[in-house]
Amino acid sequence: APVQTPNPNACGPADLPSNAQGLNCCPPRTTSIVDFVLPTPPSTLRVRQPAHLVDDEFKEKFTRAMSLMKALPSTDPRSFSQQANVHCAYCNGGYSQVGFPNMDLQVHNSWLFYPFHRWYLYFYERILGNLIDDPTFAIPFWNWDTQAGMTMPTMYTDPNSPLYDPIRDRGHQPPKVLDLNYDGIDSNDLPDQSMIANNLTVMYRQMVNNSRTARLFLGAPYRAGSFPNPGGGSVENIPHGTVHVWTGDRNRQNFENMGNFYSAARDPLFYAHHANMDRMWSVWKTLGGNRRDYTDSDWLNASFIFYDENAQAIRVRVRDCVDTTKLGYNYQDVDLPWINAQP
Ligand code: C2O
Repeated sequence: APVQTPNPNACGPADLPSNAQGLNCCPPRTTSIVDFVLPTPPSTLRVRQPAHLVDDEFKEKFTRAMSLMKALPSTDPRSFSQQANVHCAYCNGGYSQVGFPNMDLQVHNSWLFYPFHRWYLYFYERILGNLIDDPTFAIPFWNWDTQAGMTMPTMYTDPNSPLYDPIRDRGHQPPKVLDLNYDGIDSNDLPDQSMIANNLTVMYRQMVNNSRTARLFLGAPYRAGSFPNPGGGSVENIPHGTVHVWTGDRNRQNFENMGNFYSAARDPLFYAHHANMDRMWSVWKTLGGNRRDYTDSDWLNASFIFYDENAQAIRVRVRDCVDTTKLGYNYQDVDLPWINAQP
């Protein structure tokens, strides 16, 4: 049977690192939960662009939307602090599995990883668009798989911007080139061009060599009543995990903010990082061979609950998110410089 997500009222204390004890990650309670229905016909297409290529008009819109989101009271499920807590609740044991009170629900390290984060970003984007009254608004993606995108996007590094987060690695500010293989230690003696070439090889290895099937890319099956963390997909481990840790502050106990589940989504860059992960899912399906989504009904019928742009709790299922155009968005078509980067 599919993993079912408990309603927001069933959220309890999360398992947190010692320095974050006492944090409440649970969403506001509600008595009404509505099932998601795909828009027919699909809404006008929202096109997500690379964060390093957006123009000033977009930047203005996005920062305005983020300021409004951050200004909402923290009791509002659409507020930025509540958006950040969604990640904590679903990833640090805030929920147990329906019918299995001793079994934590965990959306990482399994086939739930891509669909959960896709839905998460979908609602985050809809809320931002609603706050600025622009249904075409689309969040940007951190295009770390291309040379020009291999630094923190500068839009996020201006201390006066609502996109800024002070809790990041100071040594990794632009123009520092990102290390997709990062393990907590900088390889400072490596010239930028070699780092970039290494990164492209990592992309090739993870997206092409190590992702030939749904199991290898999306992660292992995770069904109702089964243990969490059966195994994540190749790209979920590297570069998804490495970019998290590279961005977080190595001088904090848990590489906060980006380097730990409970705090990662407090950094606005989290959503840009995940937009690129989400884009990788779309790209993967175009690479041919056996790269197709699971057809297992326990995957298709797995469900989650999120609050939407009207602060309404919505139950969504994996089956409704496999095609982004049905959800009303897609990704700007950009080069895949790693596609021939065989080691
Ligand atoms: Cu929910 Cu990037 O992790």
